[in-house]
Formats: sequence, C-alpha cells, structure tokens
Amino acid sequence: MKVSIIGSGNVGVATALYLVEKRVANIVLIDIVKGWAEGKALDIVHASPIRKYDVNIDGYSDIAKIEDSDVIVVTAGKPRLPGMSREDLLRDNVKIMKFVSENIAKYAPNAVVITVTNPLDILAYVALKVTGFALKKVIGMAGILDSSRFRYFIAEELGVSPKNVTALVLGGHGDLMVPLPRYSTVHGIPVTDLLPKAKIEKLIQRTRKAGGEIVAYLKTGSAYWSPGSSAAEMVECIVRNRNRIVPCSAYLRGEYGIDGLFAGVPIVIGQNGVERIIELSLTTEEKQALHLSADKVREVIEKIETEQLI
Ligand code: NAI
Ligand code: 2OP
Repeated sequence: MKVSIIGSGNVGVATALYLVEKRVANIVLIDIVKGWAEGKALDIVHASPIRKYDVNIDGYSDIAKIEDSDVIVVTAGKPRLPGMSREDLLRDNVKIMKFVSENIAKYAPNAVVITVTNPLDILAYVALKVTGFALKKVIGMAGILDSSRFRYFIAEELGVSPKNVTALVLGGHGDLMVPLPRYSTVHGIPVTDLLPKAKIEKLIQRTRKAGGEIVAYLKTGSAYWSPGSSAAEMVECIVRNRNRIVPCSAYLRGEYGIDGLFAGVPIVIGQNGVERIIELSLTTEEKQALHLSADKVREVIEKIETEQLI
C-alpha cells in the first residue's frame, strides 16, 4: 500500500510519524517547497533503527510522485494564526486544494482522499468537485479530532483514563460544531449520568474553541499532534480495512436532512473510504444545532461558487 501526504508541514509530518510508528504503509511526503519534504523524510527515516520501523518514507517536491497512491492525505495550505477563523484561509487554500486535486485525479485516480486543510468541510467539497471522484472516496478529517478533544476534556474532568471515554462531535469543523453528550460515554456510562449539565456545557464550549485555544498559545500556527494522530487513524482504517465507526466529514445526500455538502457525521470507514453513513436519531435541539452548523458551511460554498473560485 502506498500513502502520500501532500503538504509536509506540521500536520503532514505528524501524520507521517504516527503512520510509520504504526507501520501502516510506505509513505511519500510532498511539499511545494523544494527540499522540505526530502529533509523531513530523511529525518524520520534516520530514527528507524531506534524506533524499529521498516516502512519506506520518501520526500519530493514533484507532485507526480503520488502516482498510484492508495490513500492521499492533503494537508497542503496555510494554517490559522491568532485572530483568524478557519474561513479566513478560504481564498488561498481553495487555490491550493484545486491544484492538488487536479494532480490527484491525474496521478492517483483510484486513491481514497483524506482532506485536512481548512476550512475543512469547504475544502473537502472542493476536492470532491475537482477530482470528480465517487462520493465515498473523499473524506474530511475533523470529527475524529473534535471528538478526541471532547473525550479528553471529559476524562480530565472526571479524573479517569481517556481510554475509557467515547464521545461524538457532529457538524462542521468550526465554532458551531455539535458535541453530543447523549452519545458520549465513560466505560458505557452516559456522561450525562456522571456530570451536571452546567459542567458538560463548559466542556462543550471548550471543545468548540479547542483549536483556537492552541492557536492563541502557539501564535505562529495551529495544532498538529492531535490532528496528525487523527489523520493517521483514518489512514490506518482504510489501509487495514478496519470498518471502524469514526466521526468524519462526509458528503451528505439527504442524511440528517442535509443535502449537497460535507458535514461531520459518524461513518464506517474502511478500504473504500466511506463504507456507510450512520444516521442517529437526534432530538429537535440537536438537529437544530447540526443544521445551524451545516448552514454555515453552505453559506461559504455558495460564496466560492458565486465567485467561481472552483
Ligand atoms: P504548515 O504551514 O505547517 O504546513 C503546510 C504545508 O503545505 C507547508 O509546508 C507548505 O509549503 C505546503 N504547501 C502549500 N502549498 C502546497 C502545494 N500546492 N503543494 C504541496 N505543498 C504545499 O501548516 P499545518 O499546521 O501543517 O496545517 C496545514 C493545514 O491543515 C492548514 O490549513 C490548517 O488550518 C489545517 N488543519 C486542519 C485541521 C483539521 O482538524 N481539519 C487541524 C489542524 C490543521
Ligand atoms: C484545529 O482544530 C486549526 O482546525 C485546526 O486545531
């Protein structure tokens, strides 16, 4: 199996490192800056005798080297800086995603594509439209990360291992994302039985702002270890056909009453990409929150279509 990562910045390299540690596949790192991906790949491979991984990892600036990849992770693009929303990255990153997607269609027409670049749900849409791939072949990475953050905050609050906590965050990857306490459990116990409503609400708000909290600390960029581990987990599910249920951004055609855009929902992820979308029953309040979040995504898609950015 061949996995290519386009964009060898912070998230791309973190994804690569988690993947080699899991020995999932041979990896190609690509970056537009000459020498950058080559240097990063060499640095990682120099650790292989110590870390004992024997998968190949090569770096190139020539995007043609993604040829015949089975899975492609796209992290190419600009990251958020303090005061910026994910939407502020729109124009530059649409251009980059367009270029990258044209090359994916040309060199790796059978790949499953995981997009990471922000604004996430919008750029997954750009990748789908420009590649012309089947709907199940393009997936956005966000829900797995947002849920992991929610899981961590629940574990921290309760003083239990994060391993015991499962949680679900739906919707777009923005401040209107929808953490669902009703579908979040600690060793099978609903979190709503373990924490008071007001406390859960605080954890929800912190989850929504978790990416921004890190940007405010780092000042020169955004999170990458947790995003990298999330993308690597998705790659592993595809390469090893795990069929795990993971919240991801998937193209919806009426599921949850949303049509024609990407939003975070639980999917079964396996060798074909989105094997199945799972439709949960939601309360009226949860449904409203999900639609509010999706409306925001639709607004931006309409904007890029009106302005003919793709
Ligand atoms: P970074 O700046 O460290 O890396 C981006 C890399 O992309 C740079 O090395 C740059 O040279 C490269 N690049 C730019 N245009 C390219 C092209 N046409 N072809 C190949 N490479 C190209 O940024 P970082 O921190 O890795 O973030 C990458 C993107 O991921 C950002 O848009 C960020 O907002 C997003 N992100 C999304 C998350 C999510 O949950 N979906 C989480 C974290 C980051
Ligand atoms: C994050 O959630 C910035 O989308 C990025 O960390």
